Amino acid sequence: MNSALFTPFTVKNVTMKNRIVMSPMCMYSSHKEDGHVQDWHVTHYVSRAVGQVGLIMIEATAVLPEGRISSKDLGIWNDDHIRGLKELNRQMKMYGSKTAIQLAHAGRKAMVDGDIFAPSAIPFNEKMRTPVEMSLDDIKHTVNAFVEGARRAKEAHFDIIELHGAHGYLINEFLSPLTNQRTDEYGGSKENRYRFLKEIIDGVNQVWDGPLFVRVSANDYHPEGLSPEDYVEYAAWMKEQGVDLIDVSSGAVVPAAIPVFPGYQVTFSEKIKHGAAISTGAVGLITTGIQAEEIVQNNRADLVFIGRELLRDPYWARSAAKELNVELAPPVQYERGW
Ligand code: FNR
Repeated sequence: MNSALFTPFTVKNVTMKNRIVMSPMCMYSSHKEDGHVQDWHVTHYVSRAVGQVGLIMIEATAVLPEGRISSKDLGIWNDDHIRGLKELNRQMKMYGSKTAIQLAHAGRKAMVDGDIFAPSAIPFNEKMRTPVEMSLDDIKHTVNAFVEGARRAKEAHFDIIELHGAHGYLINEFLSPLTNQRTDEYGGSKENRYRFLKEIIDGVNQVWDGPLFVRVSANDYHPEGLSPEDYVEYAAWMKEQGVDLIDVSSGAVVPAAIPVFPGYQVTFSEKIKHGAAISTGAVGLITTGIQAEEIVQNNRADLVFIGRELLRDPYWARSAAKELNVELAPPVQYERGW
């Protein structure tokens, strides 16, 4: 069969062999609590490279220790982190996958000791701690940490960088009026709420000339929150700054009821892709080859991010190819039994 899912995708200097992306998923396995890559990460990610995933995006990796979701998150706040990430890259690339890292700061959702930080001192819910409202110096320091993270990601040989701007973490907290009630130049108007992300993108562009993706939560699912239409505008601004692709997720900014069904976020991807004329990735409850094929075939997204189904089946790309009747080359070692 002529498959769109199994055609290459080129962004800047990087060509992926197919449109399948392993969605970033925290493994909470940096068990020494120092942010370093452990054996688990190598086994886990390299298995998906053997399984012929086009792009493997490693999990949310913290640009500052206070920005970790948990103390077992991967980190990239120190030059010492480069070595483990570089070796992980070397191994993932041995099987033809391209690689990406998601640079993250958890903001008010950080679950680590010490102060946690956010644009405004509002907790996520009654069970979570109240964050410290970031000063202008804190903002500068954090923007710089993302830039330093990008520099280290380059030194560790990642092909692509993604900024985590979704799921109610720090960047998302600046974008949404529900979590950003600042009265200075980083709050209030839409332009002001975008300023933190804008400065991060500008800074990253100084040290990184490879493909840059941004993951967004395209819907706050709240009457006073952001809608997919708002994100069409944000995506257009990101495009102007040179962002190559918007990875379109949704929710988790504030506690909210989300209508979940197979492919429930694909319409947001479609809206942003055509509304802002930018490449997008679709994610969320995409589990079959047919579903993924339909999305790419109908130009609803350029890439399909697969999360939990790739946890269940590290060879999901192979399974999807079988389902679609597509020949997918195995690693040579498996030629006799693929
Ligand atoms: C996630 N997700 C996620 N998202 C993200 O942007 N960064 C991350 O580090 C994580 N971590 C994470 C861990 C685990 C164990 C799961 C299951 C999920 C969300 C994930 O990337 C994806 O968007 C969702 O799981 C929806 O896609 P699926 O799983 O329905 O394909």
